[in-house]
This record gives sequence, structure tokens and C-alpha cells, in this order.
Amino acid sequence: MQTSSHVFDRPDFSDDVSHEQVIFCRDERSGLKAIIAIHSTALGPSLGGTRFYPYPDESTALTDVLRLSRGMTYKAAIAGLGLGGGKSVIIGDPKRIKTPELLEAHGRFVDSLGGRYITAGDVGTTSEDMDIIGRCTRHVAARTTAHGGSGDSAPLTALGVFHSILAAAESVWGSSDLSGRRVGVEGTGKVGYHLVRLLTGAGADVSVCDVDSAALDRIRSEFDGVTVLDRVIDAPVDIYAPCALGATLNDASVPDLSARIVCGAANNQLAHDGIEQLLNNRGITWVPDYVANGGGLIQVAGEIRRVTREQAAAQVVAIGDTVREILGRTRQLNMSAGQAARDIVQERMRAAGSGM
Ligand code: NAI
Repeated sequence: MQTSSHVFDRPDFSDDVSHEQVIFCRDERSGLKAIIAIHSTALGPSLGGTRFYPYPDESTALTDVLRLSRGMTYKAAIAGLGLGGGKSVIIGDPKRIKTPELLEAHGRFVDSLGGRYITAGDVGTTSEDMDIIGRCTRHVAARTTAHGGSGDSAPLTALGVFHSILAAAESVWGSSDLSGRRVGVEGTGKVGYHLVRLLTGAGADVSVCDVDSAALDRIRSEFDGVTVLDRVIDAPVDIYAPCALGATLNDASVPDLSARIVCGAANNQLAHDGIEQLLNNRGITWVPDYVANGGGLIQVAGEIRRVTREQAAAQVVAIGDTVREILGRTRQLNMSAGQAARDIVQERMRAAGSGM
């Protein structure tokens, strides 16, 4: 294991609260090159997936793991999980270099942290990979159901987005009744599909778009009355639910939105921080992505805490209460939803004595 003398000076290391620990991991035999970043354990052991990605260089990998691990602190804190934020990245193309030996080596590094960091799946890693990592450490979640994992997290992620939409509707229109409201769901993959089911069940008029015709065929065959469009972001909808890629809210797209509410599962929806101000100027209510899409994390945390599926689902429904609190603060204190959410996280961390 080595450490880098440059890490302490990086703005992504010392912004708001500094990372507690960054570990550079090398296993010559299997070819593993990984970085584990523990941002904060103030609220509990740090949890965050292992991203396996062909980073162009180590500096890019370090930036990513520092940014992602900080994001996990916020996501776990706002969901009230009693967990901190961490993340790991494995450098390389998983299609070329992923082997059981390499994953086991990663598992040994995770294990060496004695539970300060718990890993799970992310881009480039699967539940099966977590089973392999789990041969070398018990500090791993999101394994296959055969190995005690809790399975696909999309249904609970969609449930959290749905309850966030209900809370936002109540804040904007004074009622969470979605009948007669048109919702545009962008991306009908694992999460979007379940969200369409919940929205149609609640009487909303739903429009969808996707670049994958098979995903759209599934929607057409299962849901009567759902309209398929080329794009929903600039369609005449009341609510825009991004459930595909991030950064769809940008300088070019925000002026064309007709939605009054933006709330979806996609990570990092704002192309840059200034976008929230543009949304505010247009009177559009945005539910921060890491608040709305916390259902998947709640499910994984439930594995660690050994809660039942029903208990996890109840925690996911409570995301709606958090959204009510955030949007209540935005109105009372005339601040953005992003700032209100950050304030809540920082209050929770200060209460835990993190010095934030
Ligand atoms: P997915 O890969 O199953 O579905 C994404 C869908 O978006 C696919 O059907 C894809 O064809 C479609 N798509 C891609 N580009 C598009 C475009 N330009 N326009 C319209 N559709 C497009 O992914 P999943 O699991 O449903 O996740 C959706 C989003 O939610 C992702 O951003 C993911 O990071 C985020 N998320 C997912 C969680 C989960 O539990 N699955 C948890 C938290 C966040």
C-alpha cells in the first residue's frame, strides 16, 4: 500500500469536510490497481460501491473516487441510514482484466480496513463480483440473493422517486393527487419501468421516451394509455422524471422545460452547480437527485442492518418526508432545494460531532 503526497492539497480532498482516509491498493500478482476513499465515518461505517473502469490515468481515478465517496456521505446522511460515505475504484477495463483473483485481492484490501469501509456493486461490477469479493471479506453488500443479497434495487429506487414526486406535487400544487397531471419519464430501464407502474397506478398521465426499442415495447405491452415520445424533457409535461443519464439539465435544456417539477432517479442531473439557479429563476421545483434516488442505498444498507424488506420499504417511503422538509425549508428560508438538503446533512453530521 502506498500514499500520495499530493492528495491533501487537492480541492476535491479538502472541500467542506476532508476525506478521512485514502488507500492506494496494488496487488502485483493479479494486476489489481485500486483506490479506496473513505470520506466520512462520522455517522457510521462508510458504504459505497466498487467502480471498475478504464480510467485514462490515476489522477482521473483519484478525482472520481474522491468525488463519489463524498457523494455517498451526503446520500447516506440524508437517508438517515447511520452510515458514512466511501467508494472504491479499480483501474482498468473490466472486460479485459477482471478475474476472480483480482476481485479477491480487492476483497482483502477492503477487509484490511476492518469494517470502516463496506463495498457493493457499481458501474463495471455485478452482484456475482460481490460474491467473489465476499470470499475475502464480510464487509460487502449487494451480493446475489443466493449469497444473502437483497436482489435488484430498482423497485425500491422507483418507490423513493415516486414518493418524492408526491411530496413535490403537494408542495407545488397543494395536493399529492396526480390524476390529470402529466409525467414525462425519460428512460424506461430498470427504475423507469417500475416508476411508470407506480405513476399509472396513481392515476397520472404518463409519457415516456427511451433509446432502446425493447424497453419501450415492454411499456407499450404492459401499460395502456402511456404515450411514447421521442423526447420528454421539452414535451408539455407537468413533471419531468429523468431516469436515464445524468446532466440532462443544462444551459440549453432548462429554458425549454415546461415541467413545474423535476424529480427522477438519474444521478448528477445538473450539468453544473449554476443550473439550480436557472431552475429557480424559472419557478421549477427540483428534488435533488441523491435525495430522490436513495431507495437503492436504503435497500443495500438494509442488508447490512439485517432489516426486513418491509422495514426497508417503509424507510424508502419516508424519503417523501425528507423531501417535504427540504421543500418546506426552501420556501421558508428562500433557499434552493440543493442548499436545504446540504444544510440538513451538515446539521446531522455536526450533531454527530464531525466538525462539519
Ligand atoms: P438502466 O440502464 O436499467 O436504464 C436506463 C434506461 O435509459 C435504459 O433503458 C436506456 O436505454 C435508457 N436511455 C439511455 N440513454 C437515454 C437517452 N438519451 N434518452 C432516453 N433514454 C435513454 O438503469 P437504471 O438502473 O434504471 O437506472 C436509471 C438511472 O438511475 C441511472 O442514472 C442510475 O445511475 C440511477 N440510479 C439507479 C439506481 C438503481 O437502483 N438501479 C439507484 C440510484 C440511481
